[in-house]
Amino acid sequence: MATTEVRQQGGAENGQEEWYPPSEAVVQGAHIQDWDKLAREADADFVGFWEARAKELVDWYEPWTKVLDDSNKPFFKWFVGAKTNIVHNAIDRHLHTHRRNKLALIWEGENGESRTFSYHALNREVSKFASVLKALGVRKGDRVTIYMGRVPELPIAMLACAKIGAVHSVVYGGFSTEALHGRIEDSQSRVVVTCDGAFLNGKIVELKRIADEAIKRAPIVEHVVVFRRTGHEVPMEEGRDMWWHDLMALPIADPRCKTEVMDAEDPLYLLYTSGTTGRPKAIIHTHGGYQVGVATTLQYVFDVCDEDRYWCAADPGWVTGHSYIVYGPLILGATSFMYEGAPTYPYPDRWWAMVERYGINILYTAPTAIRGLMRFGEAWPNRRDLSSLRLLGSVGEPINPEAWRWYYTNIGKSRCPVMDTWWQTETGMFMITPTPSVPLKPGSGTRPFFGIEADIVDEHGKSVGVGEEGFLVLRRPWPAMLRGIYGDPERYVSQYWSKYKDAYLTGDSAKRDKDGYFWIIGRVDDVLKVSGYRLGTAEVESALVSHPAVAEAAVIGLPHEIKGQGIHAFVLLRQGFTPSAELAEELRAHVGSEMGPIAKPEEVKFVDSLPKTRSGKIMRRVLKARAQGLPEGDISTLEE
Ligand code: WTA
Repeated sequence: MATTEVRQQGGAENGQEEWYPPSEAVVQGAHIQDWDKLAREADADFVGFWEARAKELVDWYEPWTKVLDDSNKPFFKWFVGAKTNIVHNAIDRHLHTHRRNKLALIWEGENGESRTFSYHALNREVSKFASVLKALGVRKGDRVTIYMGRVPELPIAMLACAKIGAVHSVVYGGFSTEALHGRIEDSQSRVVVTCDGAFLNGKIVELKRIADEAIKRAPIVEHVVVFRRTGHEVPMEEGRDMWWHDLMALPIADPRCKTEVMDAEDPLYLLYTSGTTGRPKAIIHTHGGYQVGVATTLQYVFDVCDEDRYWCAADPGWVTGHSYIVYGPLILGATSFMYEGAPTYPYPDRWWAMVERYGINILYTAPTAIRGLMRFGEAWPNRRDLSSLRLLGSVGEPINPEAWRWYYTNIGKSRCPVMDTWWQTETGMFMITPTPSVPLKPGSGTRPFFGIEADIVDEHGKSVGVGEEGFLVLRRPWPAMLRGIYGDPERYVSQYWSKYKDAYLTGDSAKRDKDGYFWIIGRVDDVLKVSGYRLGTAEVESALVSHPAVAEAAVIGLPHEIKGQGIHAFVLLRQGFTPSAELAEELRAHVGSEMGPIAKPEEVKFVDSLPKTRSGKIMRRVLKARAQGLPEGDISTLEE
């Protein structure tokens, strides 16, 4: 059942008896001193636990009448009847405190330029852009697609949408035409916000050109707002395209803009992610429960303090960026750092130079980035002063103990605990994670967060024993949980809640050790994790099939030293086409331009047939086993 590749690199077999006790210096003054006590309390009354956090960490315009409504499972509702707006908590309320002049955001461009925003300044920019959106006809509930590079205007655009009750749909700037087009169409966005381009690795990513291609096929789009980042020439379509700076200079960019009063359950954003089959689906998150979930987890796990400088190195276009670059840190009134470019530009010490330059205290990144930087050796981090660091974090895929140790020793100087946070786009917040007071084992996210009940079960839903592999499920609702799939409530039920009664199916397999620590093994479905990015086999396959030479395609993930998984494609050509190295290269490039560079297969193999079940489903499992020289398993359903 489980993907074999993660097991090979994963920690489940390796690190079980390797303990790292909590650092006293870090635990001192941490929010959670007595983990066991709080875990017991939250376990006995998880609804009460979340209610207390909702009162303590965020403000509400009007209180709830009920914390959790589970009368229509699995369509759970949190903080029923409450009125709020996440922007009130992320910005507005700080303007009346000492945080008004505090830095909310520090940004560094790949070219070395730097910009900062106090909470006051952030509010001004967000309010102005919110007024611009209103002037463009954006109303409460309307969807706005945001397709930008890593610039401060990306969070500003997100917050501006949320402020007026519009629903943002951020599309990762590394995606390309087809991926963007599908997301604009599905969300029916009339307004798209983009950039002329983005700087990455010393080159320009042509965001506007890609957006133009996508929008050409999406007649719903009426307005395109373009932020000028690179200054290179881009075509602007009369009547449709407008420059960000032009709009922001007009009287319509009114800095006085009311924050819309939202129902706790009103949607905040859509975020597309890959599922088991078919097209990516839009996960819905809300204003109310989500803010409680992200604020609580960020405070307890990363222990963000007022004087901290916190850096989540993810891209804002993925859920990690939404919850832990934008919303979580701002709700806590923290100072968040954001970097535009590649970790190795111009040299492999770029990240460490920025930790030194800005005095970063908390660094949160992905195993793939750690492995990528690790290969350049210790000399690069050693040249820099990393003594400001207090806590480290990891997310996106299982971290192999070797990378964990390198990170802990060479970046954290054996002082900084590594918070390995397991969660998903769907969960909105950390679900299995240590807090700074928890003893660590490299490769394990330790135990479920307070109030979360995770279990590992077999095919029939029965809990498996210690050391046995099974499906990871979540047995209780949590406030930041997805509220469904946009436009497809049935898929929400069938994908997450139908395999087992009363349990949320994560799509991951895992084991639990004798200490109750969880070890994530990997996805059991057709979801790939390439450099921590979540992609679906189906998306890559449909990009391949859209090429005129391709009749059929199957895609699998195989172990990759840096990326975790690399994409391998098996292609059946149409009549009249012959396999060649040039054609393989052309197909790789085709996937890159349709979906984005991250989806480019490592290799394209031409085959005469694909292993299929009698009902015609491609057996990727068999392809994978063959590619790795492993036993093919049960092939009784394989067609002749
Ligand atoms: C994987 C990313 C092991 C997992 C926040 C999950 C992890 C999927 C970890 C969700 C971790 C994420 N250890 N595996 N710490 N964090 N995963 O939606 O397979 O992009 O199901 O959300 O990433 O990916 P997504």
